[in-house]
Amino acid sequence: MPETSPVTEQSSDDSRPGPRRQAPPTVAPAHAQPRQRAGGETSRTAEEDPFPTPVPRPLPQPDTAVLRRRVLETLKVAGRNFLPIVRKRVGGKDVETAEVAAALRRTFEELGATYSKFGQLIASSPGIFGETIATEFRSCLDTGPPIPFWKVRKIVERDLGVALEDVFERFEEAPVAAASIAAVHKARLRDGTDVAVKVVRPGVASTIAADIEIMEPLFSLLAKQLGVGIAGPLLQLLSGFGRQVAEELNLENELRVMNYNRRLAKNLGLTKIIIPEVYPELSGQSILTMEYIPGVAIDDLESITQFGFDPRPLVQDLVKAWFVTAARYGAFHGDVHAGNLIAIPDGRVAVLDWGIVGRLDDRTKRFLRNVVAACLGDEAAWGELVRQVRETYGSAADEIFGPDDGPVIEWVRSTLEPIFTRPFGEVSLSVFFTEPQQRHAGQLEVEARSRSILDILRMWRRRRRLRNLAERDGVEAAEFDHGTFLLGKQLVYFERYGKMFLSDTPLLQDRDFFARLLDDQPIVIQQD
Ligand SMILES: Nc1ncnc2c1ncn2[C@@H]1O[C@H](COP(=O)(O)OP(=O)(O)O)[C@@H](O)[C@H]1O
Ligand SMILES: [Mg+2]
Repeated sequence: MPETSPVTEQSSDDSRPGPRRQAPPTVAPAHAQPRQRAGGETSRTAEEDPFPTPVPRPLPQPDTAVLRRRVLETLKVAGRNFLPIVRKRVGGKDVETAEVAAALRRTFEELGATYSKFGQLIASSPGIFGETIATEFRSCLDTGPPIPFWKVRKIVERDLGVALEDVFERFEEAPVAAASIAAVHKARLRDGTDVAVKVVRPGVASTIAADIEIMEPLFSLLAKQLGVGIAGPLLQLLSGFGRQVAEELNLENELRVMNYNRRLAKNLGLTKIIIPEVYPELSGQSILTMEYIPGVAIDDLESITQFGFDPRPLVQDLVKAWFVTAARYGAFHGDVHAGNLIAIPDGRVAVLDWGIVGRLDDRTKRFLRNVVAACLGDEAAWGELVRQVRETYGSAADEIFGPDDGPVIEWVRSTLEPIFTRPFGEVSLSVFFTEPQQRHAGQLEVEARSRSILDILRMWRRRRRLRNLAERDGVEAAEFDHGTFLLGKQLVYFERYGKMFLSDTPLLQDRDFFARLLDDQPIVIQQD
């Protein structure tokens, strides 16, 4: 069995929501037990269990009063921020993309909650929104005020059914971090163990429900007023976003995914990349209690230098492990960025924040595997990729490439091969997955420049035309699939951190590893 702790064992099979198991809060985390090397005689591979399917927390019908208040607030904030732009347009003046992006970013920041989260998606989607807009949104932080402590206590006591003091020897009232959906508090169990307690903001579900309802007409209004280049993609992202947030609101998902990936990490031999141990007995839909990880964000290079270890090999191993989850299970951590990677002074790295899980349908998973295979030199995989491109885009592909396979192969090859085989410092990983149609349509150059509103309009028209063609043929356009979107988003992050940590290393440097991955052979990512 992969874990020695009864705590982990209990929950690891629990892939369904249900009444929380009541158990005495005297729990010992697995890491308190002697660590076992992976590949040991007792290790059952995680592959035998399916990746836990996240269960969304149903969003409530937005309360009329909440909805009304939020509509007024939204109109007020958006109106104030966009008034100068609307005036300019009415006066017949040109409006720069950057101005619109800044107004939108300010609007999102002031509205907070759902909008901050959405802003983060924009920030990590240069392939969809263009560099100007994505860069603008990078300052849109996902933060919120602390949750008043009496409310934290109420949630803990409601979800756990015990008095806070019965479980925690101390509980820090000021949060370690407070974001739009949840806040994290440091606490200490009665047995002296330090833990991090993630708590969902009370009432946030109804704000989110109201916001999601308001966003659609708001974005449509913006589309009408400003040109559709920004609002169109916003609308596209919205449906997948609703599901993603509903999954994040249920912390039981995060617990199950963390448990699953802890076992997987162990099977992969990862001893220096860790996932915090979770405490199912001290967790529920709105509360997640886990091992406290001391350390700094992995891009805090100054502190890491003081710790005296080189994070680069760990980042490389992390990317490999991530590919195992994506290419083998079609499910992956959809939010691996520096803030969620904690460098621990003892030389390990912890991966936090497992609330966003990307899932690839079989076709996309096959596509990803074929890309890797093709880049490893498998000629048959190139042909398969061409077939998949045609299958995915239907007559849109015919229109762009014509009937011969030559141009498709050339395009696939020139687009994909460098991504995987050239050093991180030289490539743009994200482009292919984030917006294939954009590339089909030869938008790369437009992408590189900052676009005018007219360009955006043209681009959106072209994209809409491609989408309509694809829809008419009954094929699902990849750009609307949230799993593929998260894949692209994640590749953007890898690109960013790849450049930072591994600029002279290609993604497929360890060819043997990737070959084994595709052959479905057992994998151990060796660490000393
Ligand atoms: N187990 C933990 N140990 C220490 N700090 C943690 C832990 N979990 C979360 N944190 C801190 O809280 C922050 C927010 O937690 P995270 O799970 O990333 O939530 P969010 O979804 O709000 O980003 C993290 O960036 C980290 O600083
Ligand atoms: Mg986080």
